Amino acid sequence: MVAITETRASKPPRRMHPLLLRIMHWINAISMILMVMSGWKIYNDEVIFGFLHFPDELTLGVWAQHALQWHFFVMWILVLNGLCYLAYGIFTGRFRRFLLPIRIREIIQEMVAALTFRLKHSDLTHYNAVQKLLYVGVILIIILQVITGIAIWKPVQFSGLVSLMGGFQTARLLHFIGMAAIVLFFLVHVSLALLVPKTILAMLTGGPRIAPTARHGDEDAGTNP
Ligand code: HEM
Repeated sequence: MVAITETRASKPPRRMHPLLLRIMHWINAISMILMVMSGWKIYNDEVIFGFLHFPDELTLGVWAQHALQWHFFVMWILVLNGLCYLAYGIFTGRFRRFLLPIRIREIIQEMVAALTFRLKHSDLTHYNAVQKLLYVGVILIIILQVITGIAIWKPVQFSGLVSLMGGFQTARLLHFIGMAAIVLFFLVHVSLALLVPKTILAMLTGGPRIAPTARHGDEDAGTNP
């Protein structure tokens, strides 16, 4: 018992964003950008809204079929990487310690603080309630996005899924709405990160070390409850 305690105490404190998490985050960020850009090219080929065409400079793929190849290729990277992130978040306790619980009262307090320019982000080892909501929200939206994507990819094989969504066109619309929500998250997320550049540096280098006393025995645990 003493030996175990000594070994644990002598371990150097972990970083807020361990290497594995950083790798998964950046793979996710890059693949999400490629998914959206190739998706826009595919959309342009058969638009849902007559008034909406995405500029060619913001799309990926020479023509729609080429964009589709990109979309399917990157989809596997996104899904495999996403599954690793979910497993990591669940089994290391990161989700429980950093992203949960999300309390409505705290969200309201943070919103008021943000609107009155009193939002603090000095403690990088703690996500505020709005960040938690955004992160958990985007994770759930990405999962739904994969499901609606599967439905419109193989509508015959997954006809049950397509009918559950109210038909092919509705599934396609839901996939579009999911994309819009992810793009909105991306814009807010990147703007907030740019407002506090040290968070970007932390996501690149690992960020502050987490004091062993605050780790509650978990490699990633921070100061959060
Ligand atoms: C759509 C693409 C992206 C998604 C879905 C996404 C999602 C996330 C999630 C879920 C987290 C929390 C990770 C955790 O602690 O377990 C996070 C953190 C973070 N992301 Fe992203 N991200 C994306 C793109 C980006 C980009 C392009 C940047 C660069 C500006 C960025 C910068 C950061 C930073 C700095 C953090 C740490 C936040 C902090 O310490 O306050 N992300 N991201």
